Amino acid sequence: MADSPRRTPAAKLWGGRFAEATAASVEAFTASIHYDARLYRHDIAGSKAHARMLARQGLISGEECDAILKGLDGICADIEAGTFVFRPDLEDIHMNIEKALTERIGAAGEKLHTARSRNDQVSLDLRLYLREEGEGLRRLLAEVQKGFVTLARRHLGAVMPGYTHLQRAQPVLLAHHLLAYVEMFERDRDRLADCVRRLNVMPLGAAAMAGTGLPIDREFVAAELGFPAVTANSMDTVGDRDFAMEFLFCCTVIQLHLSRLAEELVLWAGREFDFVEIGDRYCTGSSIMPQKKNPDIPELIRGKTGRVTGSLMGLLMTVKGLPLTYNRDLQEDKEPVFDALDTVRASLSITAELLGNLSFKTDRMRAAASGGFMTATDLADYLVQKNMPFRQAHGVVGRIVAHCQERGQELTDLKLEELQSFSSLIDGDVLEVLKVEGSVNSRLSIGGTARARVEDALRRLEKNLGITG
Ligand code: ARG
Repeated sequence: MADSPRRTPAAKLWGGRFAEATAASVEAFTASIHYDARLYRHDIAGSKAHARMLARQGLISGEECDAILKGLDGICADIEAGTFVFRPDLEDIHMNIEKALTERIGAAGEKLHTARSRNDQVSLDLRLYLREEGEGLRRLLAEVQKGFVTLARRHLGAVMPGYTHLQRAQPVLLAHHLLAYVEMFERDRDRLADCVRRLNVMPLGAAAMAGTGLPIDREFVAAELGFPAVTANSMDTVGDRDFAMEFLFCCTVIQLHLSRLAEELVLWAGREFDFVEIGDRYCTGSSIMPQKKNPDIPELIRGKTGRVTGSLMGLLMTVKGLPLTYNRDLQEDKEPVFDALDTVRASLSITAELLGNLSFKTDRMRAAASGGFMTATDLADYLVQKNMPFRQAHGVVGRIVAHCQERGQELTDLKLEELQSFSSLIDGDVLEVLKVEGSVNSRLSIGGTARARVEDALRRLEKNLGITG
C-alpha cells in the first residue's frame, strides 16, 4: 500500500492518513507562508547542516546529501530571483521548501526530514533569524548613538533647562541631555546582546518533542551553524518561546526610548518651547493651514510604540496557558516578532537621519535656563558649604524665592544686602553661584553636568563608538 497513488490532487506531506483533501478555508486559515517565507535563508541553512549531519551519521548517502545541498541552493537562488512559487496549500516555509526539493531531486529530498520535526525546525529558523536581526538592530542603535554624540560634540557649550515634572529644575548642558539618550541606547544594545546570547542554543534534534531514536549528532549541527550549545530538554525546546518574548521586550524598550525622544522633539519644535528647528525635508505640512510645519516623524515614532508594545503583549498572551509542548498557537509568534522588528528598524533608521537635520536654538535654551530660579539649589548648596544644615538652607532659599516671586524678580536681580537679610552666611562670592555657568560647572560629581564631566563622557562614548575626534 505504501506505493498507492495519492488520493488528493495537492497531496500534503502529511497526507497519508487522510481520505479527503483539506477544505480550502482551512488551508487559508492555517497557512503562514505569506509571512514565514522571510525565514527561507535560515530554513535552508538549517536543512543543509541537518543533511550533512545525516550523511555523517550514515542516515543518508553522500550522493543523497550532495543532491540535497545542491537542490537547496537552487531553491534559495530561485527565491532570491523571485521565481519561486510559494504555495499556501503547503502551509509554511518548511513544507514549501521540502516539497520543492523533492520535486527537483526526487527520492533524496524525501529523506531530508529524517529525525526532524517542524516543531524543532521552526525554533531553529526563528533563532537563526533573531540572532542575525539582533546584530542588525545593534548596528542601527550604534548609528543613532553616533548621531547623538556628534550633536553633543557640536553643542558642548550650550546650556538649557533640565526638567523634572516638566518644570524647569536646574541648568544643564544640552550635551548632557543628548548623551543621556546614548546611555539609554547603550543599555538597549547590551540587552539585545544578552538576549541573543540566551537564544543562541541549537534546538534541532528535539524532533516532535521527545527526541529521536535515530543516531543523530546534535553537537555537529550546532557547530555547523555556529551555536555554542544545544538545548537541554526536548519538551522544553519545542514549546519554548521565551527567546521571542525577550526579543520583543528588547524591541519595546528601544521603541519606548525613541518615543521619549520623539515626545521631546514634538515639544521642543513647538512655539511654546521653541528649542529646535526640524529641517523642512523631515517635516510635513497641513492640507488646510498654510502656516503649519508638523513634526510627523517623531509623532509616528511615538505612535508606533503602541504597536510594538502590542506585539509584546500579544505574544505573552499567546503563550499564557499553553500546555506543554508544541501547540499550533505558537505559529502566532512570528507576525508580532516580524512587525515589531520592522517597526523598530524603520524607527531607528529614520531617527538617525532626523538627528542630522535638527538645529538647536541655543539662545532660546540659554534664556530659558537663566530665569525661573534655576540656581536655587546652588544657593542652598552654597549655604551648606558655609556649614548650614541642608534643611535649613532649603528653607532660607525657599523664602528668598517667595520674596522674589512677590516682586516679580529673579534671584540675580537681588542685591547682596537683600540676600544677606535672609542669612548672614551669605557673602559676595554668592554672585558667581547664581550664574548659570557657575551652576553647571559646579556639578562635578561623577555623571554630573559640569562641562569637564560631560567632556569625559563624550570622549568615552566616542571611543566606544569608534569615532575619532
Ligand atoms: N508553521 C508552524 C509554526 O510556525 C511550523 C510548525 C508546525 N508544526 C506542526 N506540528 N503543525 O509553528
